[in-house]
Amino acid sequence: MTNDIRAIAPAAHGASGEIPIPGDKSISHRSVMLSALGITPVHITNFLHAADCMSTAACMEALGARVEFQRDDELTVTGNGLHGLREPATFLDAGNSGTTLRLLMGLLAPQPFFATFTGDASLHRRPMGRVAKPLRSMGAAIFGREQGSKLPLALLPAEKQLTAISYDSPVASAQVKSAILLAGLYAKGTTTVTEPFRSRDHTENMLKAFGVQLDIGEKSVTLHPPKEMKAPESIEVPGDISSAAYWLVLGSILAGSDLLLKNVGINPTRTGILDVLSDMGADIAVENVRRSGGEAAADLRVRAAKLTGTKFGADIMPRLIDEIPVIAVAALFAEGDTVITGAGELRVKETDRLQAIYDQYNKVAPGSIELLEDGLIIHGGKALQDATCFSYDDHRIAMSLAILGYAGSGIHIENADCIAISYPTFYETLAKL
Ligand code: S3P
Repeated sequence: MTNDIRAIAPAAHGASGEIPIPGDKSISHRSVMLSALGITPVHITNFLHAADCMSTAACMEALGARVEFQRDDELTVTGNGLHGLREPATFLDAGNSGTTLRLLMGLLAPQPFFATFTGDASLHRRPMGRVAKPLRSMGAAIFGREQGSKLPLALLPAEKQLTAISYDSPVASAQVKSAILLAGLYAKGTTTVTEPFRSRDHTENMLKAFGVQLDIGEKSVTLHPPKEMKAPESIEVPGDISSAAYWLVLGSILAGSDLLLKNVGINPTRTGILDVLSDMGADIAVENVRRSGGEAAADLRVRAAKLTGTKFGADIMPRLIDEIPVIAVAALFAEGDTVITGAGELRVKETDRLQAIYDQYNKVAPGSIELLEDGLIIHGGKALQDATCFSYDDHRIAMSLAILGYAGSGIHIENADCIAISYPTFYETLAKL
């Protein structure tokens, strides 16, 4: 990442207009991974052309799939079948992407070849034991730093077929669940994953689109290993609600705003931000509901509203886990306090996001944020000032700071370019408002 500093001036007036929302990051990753397991070409549209998903595309190419881009956000992926992945010639580089690394650990653990993983500095600090441990109990041989829990990681060729497990995951994590399900594609027997709270279910939805039989319970999923993957001809990726989140908050807190966010995925495992903003008094209308690539999508209209503080915890957390940094911005503009608990997972994201919010938002809104072990208390309505804040090279912290400065008194963001991880056109879109 570069050490750039970006200055964001305060808005001169409300934000209005239409914003097309770029493709969903989670679904884009999965579209390429699963397409690489078919034998017929899959045409993927509205793919998120951002650094994280490009890491996945490069890894799948290194594993023998044909990946051909027609445009930035449109590509065709052709695999060599469920058992057609090939040994990569060198390290697989997951860059900044936890999803790439964890899902590929699951997919490659059962393969009869050697694979090694690397990534950027942030990914080297993140915990991979949560995936390695259940995969080892299926029979996988995974080695790495810190007792095999940190990058760089090596997967030895599987000597025999993995054994299916029934895994009670201590964390509600779609990455953990997905890794085990992908390994389960090749295991002997049916694989079950149970979570404390249901996490995003894009892997399940896409596996079904590839003809895999799954039994879905309230908090559990069971996978029946298929003989082959029946690739669909095309996958249309809906827009990412985690990217729409910045505009949902900006439109709510900036007086005089009226924004129409086009083509946003509204899978119920992802819409926690709509529930929380509505609780706070936001004015958001869900229009034109439809299906897009096996997922629900809609246009979201957001108008400025007077927000009040709210309280939420562990049960809703998986449905808004990536939106906490920008929900915390909304809370700064609300009347009264917002109390967030059950958010300990934020400490192991691209950076420790609870600490980042505490350290950086308090520079802009002194005395507003209290830090808890697993959450935050945010005192809304305090005076805001321009300050120089650090992104920690975390895309979601950078974009949330930009919204905070734009709706408030301006801001200077150090290492601002990291937004390219998930939303390369973010600053352009902000400038157009
Ligand atoms: C993701 C799952 C979530 C989320 C991440 C994307 C996915 O992580 O924070 O940005 O695509 O499966 P966890 O599964 O670790 O909660």
